[in-house]
Amino acid sequence: MTDPMHLDRRTGLPEEWLYLLKDHPRVDWASHRNLGPLTEFWLARHNGFRQLGQTLDTLLVDFREERVAAKQFGGLFAPRLQQFLSELHHHHMIEDEHYFPVFMDAEKRLVAGFELLEGDHELIHHRIETVIGSANTFLGRLRQGGKDGIRRAADDYAAVSDTLLTGLMRHLDDEENLIVPLILERGEHDLGLS
Ligand SMILES: [Fe+2]
Ligand SMILES: [Fe+2]
Repeated sequence: MTDPMHLDRRTGLPEEWLYLLKDHPRVDWASHRNLGPLTEFWLARHNGFRQLGQTLDTLLVDFREERVAAKQFGGLFAPRLQQFLSELHHHHMIEDEHYFPVFMDAEKRLVAGFELLEGDHELIHHRIETVIGSANTFLGRLRQGGKDGIRRAADDYAAVSDTLLTGLMRHLDDEENLIVPLILERGEHDLGLS
């Protein structure tokens, strides 16, 4: 954890990778002529992960603060969590296999940036597995009953979930800051994306 670029430590990407973001700041993205359908779809996926991550977090808080009954919680929470984790895993696979190689080829100065994002994916993948294990324990406890056991399992789950979600939010912002300006600079078509 001494690496300042570690997902849990960094507060953004280093300046030397953000030269395209200076020319294409976030406020300009929505109206840029090179913002194509693929990029819009990809940004919408990211926003979907932000929203579903927030929904899961809110549901968990509501349960722990007894605003959602144990009986209802599993049925609300489990399918949403499953959707979130499987879609996230799929999203990262597509980025690693299809998009990052294109971007690394197109902009050699940002190869280290894409390697950092690949490293994030690997870390997030491990965290997804930890969350699945912890969720299974937690949901199993809920079925068994027993207030103390449920509370402990909920606490454990909340900790690993928070680690996953906090890291993911950092990753999404950094990834967009690296990729969107590159697409706006070159265009989806010239990059070979569409
Ligand atoms: Fe990613
Ligand atoms: Fe992504």
